[in-house]
Amino acid sequence: MEVKLRNLKKFYKDYLALDIGDYTFKKGIITGIMGSNGAGKTTLLNIVSGLDLDFQGNVLYDGEPLDERKQKEITQVFQKPFLFKRKVKDNIAYPLVIRKIDKEEIRRRTLELAKLLEIEDLLDKMGNQISGGEAQKVALARALAIRPKLLLLDEPTSSIDQKALITIENCLHIFHRNTNATIIIVTHDATQSDRLCDEVVFLERGRIC
Ligand SMILES: Nc1ncnc2c1ncn2[C@@H]1O[C@H](COP(=O)(O)OP(=O)(O)O)[C@@H](O)[C@H]1O
Ligand SMILES: [Mg+2]
Repeated sequence: MEVKLRNLKKFYKDYLALDIGDYTFKKGIITGIMGSNGAGKTTLLNIVSGLDLDFQGNVLYDGEPLDERKQKEITQVFQKPFLFKRKVKDNIAYPLVIRKIDKEEIRRRTLELAKLLEIEDLLDKMGNQISGGEAQKVALARALAIRPKLLLLDEPTSSIDQKALITIENCLHIFHRNTNATIIIVTHDATQSDRLCDEVVFLERGRIC
């Protein structure tokens, strides 16, 4: 999915948090967003994902405004993963259950992602009783389960160790290769954007520079 931003402005009361004249996230590409704390990275992701509808300007998805059908193809992984107080496997399956996917297919995808992210031994644990790094992997598995056409990641490896970081990056590579999804990833790590991203944009005080 291609995402075009046109004359995008976001105010928090009087504060102009985003001001982007014209930018296109290209289809099938991994774009990194970098910039210091408070630059507007999360604000931008929240708008592009459709979570925040309170902005000025246009965001076009393959040339069209957001609608219910497109919304179902977009997934955002938050910096602080939110998991339900249910088993990990139910957390991963949740978006598939609400999309009424066949039970056997849900089981298959859940297992496949758990293997890829090396969280098979967590599947029967409770979502609120695992570590922060583990939760980040589970949140990513839940996002990938629906095979989104647009995947938005907010610092997905900020609180994890080196081994988990490699696992997550490998998983993203495989997902991207298999689906050619558009991925937008906020990262503070320039080596990570070198490894993962085809393009990088820098945000500074809400502007692309
Ligand atoms: N809900 C909010 N209300 C008021 N100001 C906010 C809110 N969310 C973010 N901001 C402000 O907007 C700016 C951009 O925030 P954010 O997008 O979270 O930055 P980043 O993710 O790049 O660190 C910051 O100055 C922040 O304080
Ligand atoms: Mg942020």
